[in-house]
Amino acid sequence: MINEIRIGIFNVAGEFFALDDHCPHACASLSYGIVDGDVVRCRIHHWRFCVRNGFYLDEEKPRFNVETYPVRIVDEQVQVEI
Ligand code: FES
Repeated sequence: MINEIRIGIFNVAGEFFALDDHCPHACASLSYGIVDGDVVRCRIHHWRFCVRNGFYLDEEKPRFNVETYPVRIVDEQVQVEI
C-alpha cells in the first residue's frame, strides 16, 4: 500500500515493474497472479496483463488496461513513484 493505493511489484529477470494491484475484471489482486515472463495472469478468471505497460492482452479493450507506475532501485530498495 502506498498512499492508500495497493501496488503490485513484479520482478522480471531483475527488472522491476509496478502495477495497480486490482484486476479490472473483479478486483482480484494481480500480485497473487501467475507470472510468465512479463505477463501476469489473474488467478480468478485468468485475464492476462503485460507487467511492463499494464495492457490487457486477451482482447483489444484499452478500458481494461491496468495503471502502471515508474519504479527505480536505490540502495537495493524498490521505490515506486505515485
Ligand atoms: S478478477 Fe481477474 S480475471 Fe476476473
